Amino acid sequence: MDKYAVVGFPIGHSMSPSIHRQFAKKTGQELSYSAIEVRPENFDQALSDFFQSSGRGLNCTVPLKELAFAKADQLTERAKFSGAVNTLKLMPDGALLGDNTDGVGLLTDLSENLGLSLKGMRILVLGAGGAARGILGPLLEARPTELYLANRTVAKAQLMEELFAPIGRIHACAYESLPGQQFDLLINATSASLSGDLPPLADNLLAKGAVCYDLAYSKQPTAFMKWGKQQGAALSVDGLGMLVEQAAHAFNLWRGLMPDSKEVLTQLKE
Ligand code: ATR
Repeated sequence: MDKYAVVGFPIGHSMSPSIHRQFAKKTGQELSYSAIEVRPENFDQALSDFFQSSGRGLNCTVPLKELAFAKADQLTERAKFSGAVNTLKLMPDGALLGDNTDGVGLLTDLSENLGLSLKGMRILVLGAGGAARGILGPLLEARPTELYLANRTVAKAQLMEELFAPIGRIHACAYESLPGQQFDLLINATSASLSGDLPPLADNLLAKGAVCYDLAYSKQPTAFMKWGKQQGAALSVDGLGMLVEQAAHAFNLWRGLMPDSKEVLTQLKE
């Protein structure tokens, strides 16, 4: 049986096995999908063990996405721009193809599940680390009116501005320079939520009907989601939809068919 897995550290509470097993069931695909705890220092060994024993594809999560990028023999365009790989596929010739489905997963959740059109929106992305880099390309391709990128360390945001210049204009800035502006969509791509923190955000940054989206997901609303509600957001959501949609795009890369992600997302929300 074809084997798939998610690797990362820690990996105990990953929802990926449950999501992919449901996709396999719904599409009638015979495959196995497990979660394997892999520390960065063991990544090379884990890769060769896995692909030498019927492994066909891997999802790579924190802290292995950059390592997976370095190990891939071929990269999709979107993986090249994001500097990280969340999906590896063993090709018929034995090469490892690296893709990054995080950005397209976010865009699919925003457009199909939340019914948003980014065209003409003013978007603010918070954070300029690996998570932000994975979503900036697809966000620019959706043609918002403006895309601002705020980070504590402004130099890192400026690097992203330069890197993505071939795709579109990013306005790198400090949090302190935001007051006075309003945005239709605010995306938290900082790691602050993981420690219950909130980026240093001023009041009145939300335009009427604004949406706040946290890339993190958790059973309880994150600090950013609560902040969004307090600031009057029309919608303040976590990244569960993005998780399911990036998984659907990974499944498609591996198996050549797109699973119905909507039912799986509804079940997970319940
Ligand atoms: P990830 O892969 O999750 O993006 P990362 O590459 O380490 O992780 O990046 C973490 C991001 O969260 C950075 O943009 C970081 O800001 P700095 O570059 O200024 O350090 C941001 N971040 C983390 N904690 C934060 C906090 N409490 N407030 C604001 N930004 C925070």
